[in-house]
Amino acid sequence: MTNNTVLRLAIQRKGRLSEDSLSLIKESGIKFNNGSGKLKSKARNFPIEFLFLRDDDIPDYVADGVADIGIVGENVALEKGKNIDEVKRLGFSKCRLSLAIPKEIEYKGLEYFQNASIATSYPKILQDFLSRKKITANIHEISGSVEIAPSIGLASAVCDIVSSGSTLMSNGLKEVEEILNSEAIIIGNQNMSDEKKSILDKLLFRIESVQKGKNNKYILLNAPNDKLEKIIELLPGMRSPTIVPLANKKWSSIHSVINEDEFWDVIEKLRNAGAEGILVVPIEKMIL
Ligand code: PRP
Ligand code: ZN
Repeated sequence: MTNNTVLRLAIQRKGRLSEDSLSLIKESGIKFNNGSGKLKSKARNFPIEFLFLRDDDIPDYVADGVADIGIVGENVALEKGKNIDEVKRLGFSKCRLSLAIPKEIEYKGLEYFQNASIATSYPKILQDFLSRKKITANIHEISGSVEIAPSIGLASAVCDIVSSGSTLMSNGLKEVEEILNSEAIIIGNQNMSDEKKSILDKLLFRIESVQKGKNNKYILLNAPNDKLEKIIELLPGMRSPTIVPLANKKWSSIHSVINEDEFWDVIEKLRNAGAEGILVVPIEKMIL
């Protein structure tokens, strides 16, 4: 019996998230054609189909089951997301949702927004924030090019996504309050079949191996045998480091894995402990 179940994954067609979403899929070893302008594509070596959509529409499609899962910014999921689950945080496309005002105005605090008109594509998140701060303002919902609203006299402030800050700067605006930090996440339909869930588990396993690989480095170093003990103590490793004798009987080579976060710190300690010829190699995938 053949099983034709495929998992339908919605990703952003064009924008900040698309490139990183596609790289993640490729790094997970999934092959597909991504011809320009295509709305749909099926993977050649994994039971998954891609739908290329506007990011703002993805939460609704996932809630309705048109797509089973989707990759969106947390900001979009929070604004539009009803009846969807957060499946996994992806750690890329980091940005913030912020309030910004014309740069020539001296900002003294949140009172600026009392009775002000604010243009945004995120009325729900903005309203929640203002209510928490006990500020009443007029929210103008617009679906794009929010940053030009102040210069055309439509609003005296905007609430929009800031990543590098260049959009704000080129429109003469400055960021004055941060409302929320956001990153890409996978969202999922709440009523997936068991078959789809098992495909999703396989996909998540692959994604996690790629992520762990990125967060860790393979390290090789040489050390005199009398310093081995001290050096091994410094290396966390997956279980315990691999030790290979060198041709020079007084020396050994040590191989291990270190986390990106503690990387420079550990390297410095290793050098002080007598390690030499330290090589650091990227890890493509890591399965524990
Ligand atoms: C956001 C925002 C700005 C831009 C800010 O758009 O609306 O246009 O990113 O980035 P910067 O600080 O690096 O200049 P988004 O990617 O969410 O796209 P969309 O509004 O088309 O959905
Ligand atoms: Zn969008």
